[in-house]
Order: sequence, then structure tokens, then C-alpha cells
Amino acid sequence: MSHRLTRRNLIKSSAALGGAFVAGRYYVGRVFAAPPPLDKKDKYTVGFAQTGSNNPWRIAETASMKDQFETKLGWTLIATDANEDTNKQLADIDSIIAQRPDIFIFPPRESEALAPKVLEIKDAGIPVLLIDRDVVHDVAKPGEDYIGFIGSDFVQQGMQAAEWLVKATGGTAKIIELEGTTGADPAIDRKKGFDDFLAGTFKGSPVAAGTQSGMEILASQSGNFLRDTGRQVMETLLQAHPEVTAVYAHNDEMAIGAIAALEAAGRKPGQDVTLVSIDGENAALDAIVEGKLGASVESSPFFGPIAYETMMKYVNGEDIPDWVVVEDRFFDANNAAEFQGKQY
Ligand code: AHR
Repeated sequence: MSHRLTRRNLIKSSAALGGAFVAGRYYVGRVFAAPPPLDKKDKYTVGFAQTGSNNPWRIAETASMKDQFETKLGWTLIATDANEDTNKQLADIDSIIAQRPDIFIFPPRESEALAPKVLEIKDAGIPVLLIDRDVVHDVAKPGEDYIGFIGSDFVQQGMQAAEWLVKATGGTAKIIELEGTTGADPAIDRKKGFDDFLAGTFKGSPVAAGTQSGMEILASQSGNFLRDTGRQVMETLLQAHPEVTAVYAHNDEMAIGAIAALEAAGRKPGQDVTLVSIDGENAALDAIVEGKLGASVESSPFFGPIAYETMMKYVNGEDIPDWVVVEDRFFDANNAAEFQGKQY
């Protein structure tokens, strides 16, 4: 028998639990401290509200979801593209809710702005599995309001980038930081990991507080995870800070934009300016082999298989951790050639 909550059950359950039935709307989510259940069946419809498709990482993530759910399983994926506009992603989700998918599996563009929407999806009786980016837990809680989060450890990525940069520069550098999308948790956490490592306050950091005093962040500004925005921001910051000797970009696309800006200004990336970034896309591996980019911490976009596996565990009643951590690799001059052309 189906264990999906029916309209009648909802009224009963809401009443029994002192629940909310307000203005004709069932606040199911607020009544139950668990995500809505998901019945066993042969085929599912999955709602996938993508943030955009303007960089190789996003394209690879969407392709991974389509490959898993449409091509391999023959299910329906309701996919939208918010064109990197948070309001559009919110509206896209509303339109997907109206089509009644069995489950939402998607990356919330901004961690605060999308948290109430996760609650709304729960209220609509649809379970949510977040991939790639998370929402703030003081508003929406994993295990209660949504199944859980599948994604990389962004703080760790920032820490690894800092650790590599300290070694590569001998502990002395004047750094320009190109941040990701403002309000997105990879941007927040990659900054935190980097800053905390340099300050010696990262939990488990091998360096003592204050020992990275030769590492100075000259300026830190968002390049919105985009190549051309990264190039433009770098161009401006370079004029204000010609003394720069290192760049930390929160993703490869911005690092590649920064390389273009540095070259246009007559600088020699990889020689007089050391660059480190995050993602591990093909263009970054090429730049490492060319000696222009020093290293890239991997952040995998291939969520299709792990999202499917986690969803089916939920269907089968298995415990899902609040955070399914994606293990990432690290690319530098020692191994980049081996992976060239094998990424995305
Ligand atoms: O959320 C992951 C980040 O978003 C990737 O590093 C970036 O390339 C993407 O746009």
C-alpha cells in the first residue's frame, strides 16, 4: 500500500499533531519532522532546477543528471535553467512543483534565498535531495525538511588551495582572491577554508596561528564563477594592485579569465604570478600542463549516479546521512597530464 500522504490523511495527521491547516493550505512539512516519503515504483519523475548553463561545470552536472535519469533509467527529468538568476530559480521551482514530480534533486543557487523554498517543496508533499550546493540549516534542516545534501567539502577545498599556495610561494605572497557567486555556499566556504588556513585557525590545520603572516590578501571580489567576469574583475584589481604575486580563484573558469587578464597586462602567469583554483575542468588541466595554472582542487559535477543511489536508499527506508560527502582529487603539475581531456 502506498505510504504517500493523502489529502485526507493530512487533515487527520495535522489535527492529531495539532498541525497547521491555514487558509486552505496544508502545512504538512511543519507538522512532520521528516521529509515526505517516496513510494516504490518503476519510474519516477525528478524535478531538476539547474542554476545556469554558462560554464563547463554546470553543463557537465546537467549532462550527468540527464544521462542517469533519462538515458540510463528512462525516467522523466523536468529540467529548468535559471540562467544564474536566483529569482528565476525560485520561479522555476514553482513551475516544477505544479507539475507534481515525485522528488526534487537540485542545486540551490544561494544558500539563504533558497532555504524557504525547500520548506515550500516539503509543504507540497515532495521530498527534496540537494546536490552540489546546500541551504542554511537554521531555516531548512537536512533529515527533517529535506533528505540530505550530497556534495563536496568546500571548506576543505579552500584549505587545500591555501596549503598548496603557501608551499608554492614559500609562504610569501600578495594575493588577489576571485570569489564565486555571492551567497552561494561554495563561495562562502571556499573563502572560509582559505582564510582560516592562512590565519592558522583551520580545524586540524598543520600550521600554527599567525605562521602564514607572509601571505597577504590584497583584494577579494566576486567574479560570479564566470570566466569573463573573472577576467574583468582581475583586470580592474590588477590596476589597483600591480604588486600582486598570486591569485586564488574559487573556480577554474575565473582562474582562466584571470590568466587572460594577466597576459593582456604583460604579466607571466605561472612565473611572476602563481595561480590556484578549484574544479578540475579540462581547460584547467591544460593550463596546468602549460605551466600557467599551478593547481586545481577537484570539485566533481558528476552527481547523477550518486543522486540516484541516495534516492533509492531513501525509497528503501535506509538511513541517509545529512551530508553525503563527495571525495575529490587534486591536480597539479605532478598528475595533470594524466587526466587531460578526461574531465569536462
Ligand atoms: O557549486 C559548485 C560551483 O559552481 C563550481 O565550482 C562552479 O564552477 C560552479 O558554477
